[in-house]
Amino acid sequence: MAATEAIPTTVWRTNPVAALWSTMVGKKVVMAVTGAVLVAFVIGHMLGNLKIFLGAEAIDTYAVFLRTMGEPLVPYSVLLWVVRIVLLTCVALHITAAVQLTRMNWAARPESYDTKQSIATTYAARTTRWSGVILVLFIVYHLLHLTAGRVGFRAGEFQHLSVYHNVVTGFSVWYVALFYVVAMACLCLHLDHGIWSALQTLGWNDARSTPLFRALSRVTALAVFLGFISVPVAVLAGWVR
Ligand code: HEM
Repeated sequence: MAATEAIPTTVWRTNPVAALWSTMVGKKVVMAVTGAVLVAFVIGHMLGNLKIFLGAEAIDTYAVFLRTMGEPLVPYSVLLWVVRIVLLTCVALHITAAVQLTRMNWAARPESYDTKQSIATTYAARTTRWSGVILVLFIVYHLLHLTAGRVGFRAGEFQHLSVYHNVVTGFSVWYVALFYVVAMACLCLHLDHGIWSALQTLGWNDARSTPLFRALSRVTALAVFLGFISVPVAVLAGWVR
């Protein structure tokens, strides 16, 4: 890759991490690796949310487990905070690399818009960009909503660690539930292209595996979408109350 070749060998020797970060390939690797961590979290979180279908005790006990895991070796909530810090770092690196890559792309190849292939690539990249922006806004709202209880609830409605009650009360407001469904559609689009791009960056695709990886990205994105929206949909439909 030209971007890596342009960096003098002495720079690679003295600070390989900074040298890699300064290249497009390096930023793509950072996006792929942080994206993989975030996908793992999203799948785990989606599966955890499905405990709501087992009843209030199952999901509320799970919420307590998230805070007490590692005890007595590790104090209350410490492991959860470690996970939160790792996730936040991944989100920050993922966004920073995305913004810088976009700028580098815009600066490098304005003429690449004229082929069919690059139109498709640009469309997917653009969709991934705006779905990413909506996801960031969603996450801010979501943390204020179901973690902090600061928005979407009337005074006294939100109860710390009563996840079942909070989810049912929170999604009883139809436009909040609808907002979640729309945000999950954005997550689905983001994952569909994001997982595919990450697999390409990490070099796990050749002519034979290409259709398989396309299918894998699509199926994962759809499964995450259906798993997540099942909760607000079930509350709105009155199946979970
Ligand atoms: C319909 C979809 C979703 C539902 C019903 C949902 C539900 C919840 C609930 C109930 C909590 C609070 C858990 C607790 O306090 O123990 C929570 C926390 C959280 N959710 Fe979601 N979530 C959804 C989608 C997402 C998505 C798509 C993301 C990220 C892309 C996400 C990221 C988080 C994060 C980071 C936390 C805070 C965890 C913590 O630090 O305690 N959620 N979610």
